[in-house]
Amino acid sequence: MSPTNIFKFRPATLAAGDDRWFVEAWDSTLPYLASIGSTSQWQYIPSNIPGAVSKVKKMVEDSDICAKKYPIASPKILSGNGVPPLDWDKAYVAEIDVKKEDVPIALADKYSNEHGETVTIPVGAMVLMARSPEYVRAVIPEQDENDPFIYLSFLMTDHRAGGLAKGSGSALLSIAKEEVKSLGLKRLCGDCWRGNGRRLVGYYDGQGLKAIGDFDVPKNEQDSWEGAVTEWRA
Ligand SMILES: CC(C)(COP(=O)(O)OP(=O)(O)OC[C@H]1O[C@@H](n2cnc3c(N)ncnc32)[C@H](O)[C@@H]1OP(=O)(O)O)[C@@H](O)C(=O)NCCC(=O)NCCS
Repeated sequence: MSPTNIFKFRPATLAAGDDRWFVEAWDSTLPYLASIGSTSQWQYIPSNIPGAVSKVKKMVEDSDICAKKYPIASPKILSGNGVPPLDWDKAYVAEIDVKKEDVPIALADKYSNEHGETVTIPVGAMVLMARSPEYVRAVIPEQDENDPFIYLSFLMTDHRAGGLAKGSGSALLSIAKEEVKSLGLKRLCGDCWRGNGRRLVGYYDGQGLKAIGDFDVPKNEQDSWEGAVTEWRA
């Protein structure tokens, strides 16, 4: 984590409009991905894809519902065999307080009408779930009675925030690990693109999420999306 950035964390909510901000932040990663030769990680602009917009909205909506149903992260919500309920979801926002004059140009319009010398801007987004997505089934089951886990379904930083966002992804991963421990679990899993020389797999490895298996999702007859499942153990 950058030594200069201090983040605050809160649940993402529809009421705060976080679903819309998640999509804006997602869009903002595309020029960065192109700049490092990772265009094939996400080949579309999320805000232009209704399926991506509704997927994000559902993630935040489900997190809202889960916050009411399971207000406290505790082993008490696990089933008798120690597995988290499949409808457990939690979406987070990492924020940073910044002097108005230091708001990056790409976000300046958004905060120009706010009162006060300091504004709070969201810089990182994360979604945790108690189930893995269908496309990783070759490597990991939806949930595992013998080795239960929480799944990292979404992690990104708002690249419009520049240096202010740096380290917020790593800080959110620390929150994810704490969440796993609060639930009495020992395992955090996730997946990422493994193209471009496994560079993103390397990022997760540095964060303690080690690759445990590769998978391929066919895009068409010739091509597939190459992914890797990662795992951290408490
Ligand atoms: C991955 C991410 C959440 C990490 O956030 P963070 O912990 O705050 O760390 P930083 O953003 O400072 O990135 C640290 C390093 O990770 C690497 N990295 C980040 N995203 C990467 C990606 N998609 N592919 C390859 N390397 C990546 C880079 O080496 C980066 O160093 P750089 O700043 O010199 O380019 C954030 O960089 C991000 O949003 N990346 C683009 C979207 C993404 O790939 N999300 C993960 C999907 S599984």
